[in-house]
Amino acid sequence: MPAIRLTSPAKLNLVLDVLGKRPDGFHELVTLFERISLADTITLKDRPDGFIRIICSHPHVPTGPKNLAYRIAAQLQKDYKISRGVTITIDKKIPVAAGLAGGSSNGATVLLGLNRLWHLGLSRKQLHNYATQLGSDVAFFLYNASFAIGRGRGEKIELVKAPVKLWHVLVTPKVKMYTKDVFARLRARQLATNLTLTNKGGNVNILLPFLRESNVSQVAKELSNDLEPAILSLRPDFVHLKRKLIEAKALGVCFSGSGPSVYALAQSKKHAQAIRARFDKRYTQVFVVSTF
Ligand code: C5P
Repeated sequence: MPAIRLTSPAKLNLVLDVLGKRPDGFHELVTLFERISLADTITLKDRPDGFIRIICSHPHVPTGPKNLAYRIAAQLQKDYKISRGVTITIDKKIPVAAGLAGGSSNGATVLLGLNRLWHLGLSRKQLHNYATQLGSDVAFFLYNASFAIGRGRGEKIELVKAPVKLWHVLVTPKVKMYTKDVFARLRARQLATNLTLTNKGGNVNILLPFLRESNVSQVAKELSNDLEPAILSLRPDFVHLKRKLIEAKALGVCFSGSGPSVYALAQSKKHAQAIRARFDKRYTQVFVVSTF
């Protein structure tokens, strides 16, 4: 079979409600995912020698089992006794450890691609089970959907139909933030301040009708992320970043996932480009992106 070329997009969280900590150590969430146009390109090429090789020029992308793309390939090889190998080439455009789920998306994309390359015939349910084992954000990328609600760890997916294309300015400081550390900080803050998580996860229900009506300015008002206090306590300087985007006349500004990426919601592509123009000098990773 010739090489398979696949698009592996990033996501933003328009809402991220943390409901509480579970006995398994994960946090129960309700989130609204948006798939965005910022994407890696992945090529899968069969190799007869049975090896799994990851080729990626980005210095922070692991090429061994720490990479979800590697891990899923090894798991499928083992489970289905596949004697073939694969070369996975990742053209990295999504910033790494940035709250954009680039690694999770790569894992999901390789899972879907190997299902084809190795003729595995996995069902939707089997694919979903593999995705869930890989990570909390992986399952969203199995569905060809622009928007979805994620529940549980984020892996229980309910597709959302909304005929809207949002435009954003995405600013990713060149700082890696690990999801695990941000959740740990959230927990530490709660214990230190005796705060309880009172959020009932209702923010998605408030935002959804506006999204379905393409009411972008109301969507902007309802963007929210319960991880923000933890992100800002790890990096207090990011307050300025948010403020700058608001001053640049963004409709709304929010962190994505566990940060450090911050995005502004704009009225149009032109509006997003105007906001970006104010950031180009100070931050090297600034993107205009849209719903994909
Ligand atoms: O599932 P994933 O590997 O992306 O999660 C990374 C880490 O983030 C977990 O080990 C856990 O510490 C934290 N996490 C969490 N609750 C979630 C998702 C992630 O506590 N719903």
